[in-house]
Amino acid sequence: MRRTNPERPFQTRAEAATYAAARALDAANMALWESAIRQAVGARSMSLAVDVGCGTGHFLVAIREATRARVIGLDASIPMLLEARTAVGDAFPLVCANGSRLPIGSGLADFLFYSMVVHHLESVTEALLEGGRCLRKDGLICIRTSTVDRLECFAYLQYFPSAMERDRVKMPSVADLVRILDTGMFRVVRHDVVLQTAEDSVADYVQFVRSRSLSDLIAIADEEFANGCASLASDVEEGRNLDLREPMDFIVARRV
Ligand SMILES: C[S@@+](CC[C@H](N)C(=O)[O-])C[C@H]1O[C@@H](n2cnc3c(N)ncnc32)[C@H](O)[C@@H]1O
Repeated sequence: MRRTNPERPFQTRAEAATYAAARALDAANMALWESAIRQAVGARSMSLAVDVGCGTGHFLVAIREATRARVIGLDASIPMLLEARTAVGDAFPLVCANGSRLPIGSGLADFLFYSMVVHHLESVTEALLEGGRCLRKDGLICIRTSTVDRLECFAYLQYFPSAMERDRVKMPSVADLVRILDTGMFRVVRHDVVLQTAEDSVADYVQFVRSRSLSDLIAIADEEFANGCASLASDVEEGRNLDLREPMDFIVARRV
């Protein structure tokens, strides 16, 4: 039996708890992202930053450190927000909201962060227009995402062909995102590919894949998931070395 509605993952307490534990970034990876955000922010002075689709809150502290702003976490899933509350306590306001209707006054935000969210949105264009409404002039929007441009680099996907197919359809391309952003409301100011490391060892990577915390693995049939995990584990036992580096796209645009 499927664990969830594949079109709406992260809606149960169990999935949220799994996500919080399995998708947390270690200190080295988090330092990479804090540095990427810090570079995007530069010398700007910021008052309000919003993590849109904050999930279990993995990036809230890094955003606060890099922007030196008050940070609000927004997410459409109550179970994800409950995990975030457990993780960060009362340090950040956490609000249940949809990315296409942000509870932020027009022009009040200095910084919007979208991490691994755009492929879940019904309309990226609509959500980014809504983000643009909330941003003050010269405010920044940062998108951290995997893209179709680099799917082949993600080691696990070769074991789950349906997940690969699904990602080819659902994941944005860099060109798509730049096209949507560069329509007058924003100007793209940088695009970096940040190489994070999925896990320290292939054994840990097998455990990570087995946690089924990735939405593309939640979406596929249980049988394909089980078979893919078995092939991956068997390859690793036979000594196959996997490249555990994951190239993530980071796009920064300025509100004009
Ligand atoms: C893969 S998780 C990413 C969580 C977090 N940003 C991170 O990088 O760890 C995707 C999150 O987006 C949220 N989400 C999906 N659609 C959304 C929407 N329309 N509005 C707000 N949040 C949404 C989900 O509930 C989930 O918490």
